[in-house]
Amino acid sequence: MKRSIDKVLNISDLRTLAKKRLPPGLFSYLDHGSEDERTMSANRSALEGIRFLPRVCVDVRQIDQTRTCLGFTHRSPIAVGPTGLTSLLWPDGETQLAKATADAGVPFTAGIFSLTSVESLAEIPDIMLWAQTYWMCDETLTFHFIERARNAGIKVLLITADMSVPANREYAARSHFSPPLRIDFHNLFDMLSRPAWLIDTALKYWISNNLPTYPNLPEGRGGQVMKAATYKDMRISPALNWHDIARIRKAWPHALVLKGISNSEDAVLAVNYGLDGIVVSNHGGRALDGTIAAIDALPAVVDRVRNKIEILIDGGFRRGSDVVKALALGATAVLLGRPTLYGAAAAGYPGAAKALSIFKDEIQRVLGLLGCCSVSELSVSLLDCPSIARPSLPLKEN
Ligand SMILES: Cc1cc2nc3c(=O)[nH]c(=O)nc-3n(C[C@H](O)[C@H](O)[C@H](O)COP(=O)(O)O)c2cc1C
Repeated sequence: MKRSIDKVLNISDLRTLAKKRLPPGLFSYLDHGSEDERTMSANRSALEGIRFLPRVCVDVRQIDQTRTCLGFTHRSPIAVGPTGLTSLLWPDGETQLAKATADAGVPFTAGIFSLTSVESLAEIPDIMLWAQTYWMCDETLTFHFIERARNAGIKVLLITADMSVPANREYAARSHFSPPLRIDFHNLFDMLSRPAWLIDTALKYWISNNLPTYPNLPEGRGGQVMKAATYKDMRISPALNWHDIARIRKAWPHALVLKGISNSEDAVLAVNYGLDGIVVSNHGGRALDGTIAAIDALPAVVDRVRNKIEILIDGGFRRGSDVVKALALGATAVLLGRPTLYGAAAAGYPGAAKALSIFKDEIQRVLGLLGCCSVSELSVSLLDCPSIARPSLPLKEN
């Protein structure tokens, strides 16, 4: 696998390796979106539709891509967002991904549905750990997680708001891969078709009688991933409203971020309710299909709440150039979902580290070719972007 990782040039290569290694049902869980995947495709095509207007004759020998966001200094303007089931992709995959993220000097987000406890992730040296939760049907589960995140020393909490009812994921029905995970003829065949994953991940858990559980739920509630009863506790509440956000605000003394914003009206409400940040996000096209591409939603949000709240974004970011486009449009940082999962699924720690270093290298190169010495020099004047009117170009000489 080391040799394959050495040959990887971009995130698409990591996706190919992940696809080769994972059983097709498990790969489709991480790769697909809801219904006709219009939003998932729109996330990509909208980013591809933005073009650069680079400046020349700028001395770019020193380029600095560090960025401060929500009190953390990131070595790159990216962070790893919350995703579930990473430890099914690679043994102890979540810890491997979190370690690679810590070593890259960017934040990692532990979710309430992580298969690794928030406390053990907090012990990883140099980790900048953020936490994410949903508003659960049993709200005591949400507050239990918030308390544990606080005790683990976490300083940033994300509340995901765009999954109020379960999304229509037809791919999961087709691939027989949806919680509760169960073994039937279809996915047994699936697993047998990927002997490397079967031996180094599935059998490893099975033989050690150590099947993953949901350790961020309270004792006695978070059962094994294979048990149907476990999922009774994991229902997300359809009742989340701004009053609940105000209650969470009271319970959480540090940075609070609302994830899943597409409509600028909600961005304004987030400011009014005292939040510190928002993530412009459509859950990577896994929630409401037909939602606007995240990058297309960004300009209106920036227009309404710039300098009042930290604006993060995710959805479809696969190249450093995509990250640079979002920053030029006014985002502070970009969360990564699938790219680092492809890396972790392809090769554990080295794969995740590769994904992060690809972004870092690409951002550095794009900044140089754009004529920018730091991310703070990025502005909309460097873009030809269909969704915004472009101001006249400032004269830049040095
Ligand atoms: C396999 C998978 C699991 C996810 N689980 C969660 C989750 O538990 N909570 C959450 O807020 N978002 C979750 N997301 C959404 C991501 O945080 C993020 O919004 C999305 O993946 C960004 O799009 P990208 O994958 O194109 O980068 C998940 C995404 C994937 C791919």
